[in-house]
Amino acid sequence: MCILRINIKESTMLVLGIESSCDETGLALYSEHDGLIAHLVNSQIDLFTEYGGVIPEIAARDHSVKIIEILKTLLDKTGKNLNDISLIAYTAGPGLIGSLMVGETVAKTISEVLKIELLPINHLEGHILTPGLEKDGLKPPYLCLLVSGGHTQIIRCDDYGDYEIIGETVDDACGEAFDKVGKLLNLEYPGGPKVSKLAEKGDKNKFSFPRAMMKDKNLNFSFSGLKTAVLYALEDLSEGDYPDVAASFQEAVIEVLTTKLSWAVEETGIKKLVCSGGVASNQLLRDRLKALAEEQDLQLSYPSMEFCTDNAAMIAYAGYIRKKLKLKTYQTNFARPRWPLGELYD
Ligand code: KG4
Ligand code: ZN
Repeated sequence: MCILRINIKESTMLVLGIESSCDETGLALYSEHDGLIAHLVNSQIDLFTEYGGVIPEIAARDHSVKIIEILKTLLDKTGKNLNDISLIAYTAGPGLIGSLMVGETVAKTISEVLKIELLPINHLEGHILTPGLEKDGLKPPYLCLLVSGGHTQIIRCDDYGDYEIIGETVDDACGEAFDKVGKLLNLEYPGGPKVSKLAEKGDKNKFSFPRAMMKDKNLNFSFSGLKTAVLYALEDLSEGDYPDVAASFQEAVIEVLTTKLSWAVEETGIKKLVCSGGVASNQLLRDRLKALAEEQDLQLSYPSMEFCTDNAAMIAYAGYIRKKLKLKTYQTNFARPRWPLGELYD
């Protein structure tokens, strides 16, 4: 009798993440054993500079042109092939419908042809879970301040899959307000980084712009009045005043964000904070949150910039967490432009 030794390759989960909810095409591979293997993002920002904002049809078309090329590069670079993948996690919403449908169609096609499990992921859950992509990243429970061109929310994350929005904007997102003010100041889209750069040369106390909804420790935000106040102020000003306008506007936004986050800490008793989204790269916001954390003995985590802005690594990771923890998953046959966190489950 002979004894055969067979090295059975342990089957580990390898997740393909796909993100295409707005103007970034992202593909990622996340492995149960090795964590994030690679992720690639193509930003469409340059396409929209001349328009001053995202044009949904152009965004969808660009996803469609680039997504397969990016997938091939991802597989080439990592030496993997589609048959190695055990789960496809893709952003099913919220976002621009045309853009979402490109990612969803690619995900569904690979899943159908190769019989790979498919998991629709809520884009917001991806952002909330980004700390998990970092070594020693914070684990729930924590509060997540999500600040981007599309979102301004304070989310209470009690556990994986257990989220509650405890504050959000009732009109413009704060990144959108930065971009609109950027336009008023003749800065190129996206205006956020340029407004904050211009603000470095300005006096933040020169103009007193409104801080909305600051009564009764209300955790919601409103930025449209602030943008209008800037518009009216500019009527009597010249270009020489723009740095002061930028600094005073930025001060108003950051003051509101940090104040409301401190109220959220007070209300929930949760002493761990995560700040994510494109506006999280704003240096003044970072400095103020750091000061708040030191003052109130809070743990503060900023995912690195590559994970703050839209990317597929966070989508792959959210898929991995949902599968690993056997969380109930949402069943859908279609992308959802509107998908509130409160409707995460069927
Ligand atoms: O998360 P993100 O890359 O894309 C989505 O909105 O989905 O965020 C982009 C937003 C834009 O509104 C941009 O102007 C803003 O983040 N942003 C900033 C800064 N860097 C990017 N806003 C203020 N200060 C910055 N340094
Ligand atoms: Zn996003």
